[in-house]
Amino acid sequence: MFAAITSLGLQGIEPFAVRAEVSVSRAMPAFDIVGLPDTAVRESRERVRSVFQNGGFPFPEGRIIVNLAPADIKKNGSLYDLPIFVGLLAAQGLIPDTQAAFLGELSLSGAVQRVNGVLPMLLGARALGIHKAYIPYDNAAEASVVEGLEIYAVQHVSQLADALIGKSSLPIAGSIPHHAPVSCPQPDFSEVKGQQVAKRALEIAAAGGHNILMIGAPGTGKSMLAKRIPSILPEMTDREAIETTKIYSACGMLEPGAPLIRTRPFRAPHHTISPAGLCGGGSIPQPGEISLAHNGVLFLDELPEFNRSAMEALRQPLEDGVLTLARAQGRLTYPSRFMLAAAMNPCPCGYFGHPTRACTCSDNQVSRYLGKVSGPLLDRIDLHVEVLPVNYEQLSSHQQEESSAVIKARVDAARHIQAKRFAGHPVSCNAEIPPALLRESCPLSSGAEKLMRLVFEKLGLSGRSYDRILKVARTIADLDGSDEIQLSHLSEAVQYRSLDRKYWHH
Ligand SMILES: Nc1ncnc2c1ncn2[C@@H]1O[C@H](COP(=O)(O)OP(=O)(O)O)[C@@H](O)[C@H]1O
Ligand SMILES: [Mg+2]
Repeated sequence: MFAAITSLGLQGIEPFAVRAEVSVSRAMPAFDIVGLPDTAVRESRERVRSVFQNGGFPFPEGRIIVNLAPADIKKNGSLYDLPIFVGLLAAQGLIPDTQAAFLGELSLSGAVQRVNGVLPMLLGARALGIHKAYIPYDNAAEASVVEGLEIYAVQHVSQLADALIGKSSLPIAGSIPHHAPVSCPQPDFSEVKGQQVAKRALEIAAAGGHNILMIGAPGTGKSMLAKRIPSILPEMTDREAIETTKIYSACGMLEPGAPLIRTRPFRAPHHTISPAGLCGGGSIPQPGEISLAHNGVLFLDELPEFNRSAMEALRQPLEDGVLTLARAQGRLTYPSRFMLAAAMNPCPCGYFGHPTRACTCSDNQVSRYLGKVSGPLLDRIDLHVEVLPVNYEQLSSHQQEESSAVIKARVDAARHIQAKRFAGHPVSCNAEIPPALLRESCPLSSGAEKLMRLVFEKLGLSGRSYDRILKVARTIADLDGSDEIQLSHLSEAVQYRSLDRKYWHH
């Protein structure tokens, strides 16, 4: 007796087809699973056996072998319970042959439980020639996003068995109502008094997707400012929402009942995080914080306190927008395009460069502290901004500060210009301009041209900093509604690269 049932698997967020082949032969009773199963897959035997017992389904007699093909790719997780269960029914001729794909974990009583990675697997299914899929009911919300595929939501195996023999029908995933995510009030920029310079820099960062570093004494409001970045970021496009949701689905971090992630992620890992936690890894590779920040913000507060190798591991994804993990079976990539926001004190006591308070650190201590942030990392941060203490008048003033909504409207307008400029290119904002498009998208006025030459020669800029200054200037010009990058736009962009001279090369 033999049956083959279609299922799916994931490598990172890339789907592949799995065939669960079930063979039952007349021999000593046994039940084996082969095809590089991990522990969760091997334990499937016990769950499936129990479902047969408790559900009153006849368990095949003899030697059962389940082969999960292709046999050379590791199979992880509990999602093969359902295809194995269906395969055991089909091998006995209890249900008709089916070309549909099955995924789901089973409880001992036969309830079908949610599994990770349903969205990326189903998105890939159609390309793999699959037309129909049966998935856990609790994954229906994310599955409802997938078009062009017949997707049925299953709560219990007995329902599924009835549906497969045509005795009843199952709900289509898209027809199941899901709760809208509750939106809680976000912190707003109007709560931050003064700090016009920092606010302006954050607006530019949000408008062009640029990385930003805030440096200043303790209590000046750096963390407060950073937490308000999401309130001025543009809405996600559909494509961005799907890309980000795929990652959260794959690692099981999607809220139950939430279909698509529509708000840009804001990830703020603590500085004690390990390099693997930040960038991903592990024996079953999991995406790290930088991939979870895809299409959103990665906020590193107290930057110099982060583990040196964790910081250095940021460099590749900051440059490429993807994270590559090397594994025994080959490479795995996760999209990891995020806006880096970082904050730091300038020295251990926090008051180096402070306008009124004296710094108690020695020169050596200051250099060592700043030196924890390496030149190459600093070079990849487009905007460096000093956050100075606000004075009493500003702090106690009743003057209304600009709200996030007002700032966001300007950001949106600048993004709109960018979307038009990059139509037809896989570029969503100025920070992502590829070298091939840089010259044509950043025309300089003659004054700006002269300044650029001067700055390049005087400051000894690297090619990378030159490109990054140009991109920031592009964003400043977009905020100003100017096609050409004028002198004032460029000189503002250059200013955001001059702090390293005050601090790092003092
Ligand atoms: N400009 C400001 N406007 C209003 N409150 C401020 C401002 N700056 C600091 N604060 C207050 O001080 C607190 C500490 O600021 P915080 O962002 O933690 O500083 P930092 O991260 O620079 O050490 C804030 O939570 C806020 O209550
Ligand atoms: Mg802070």
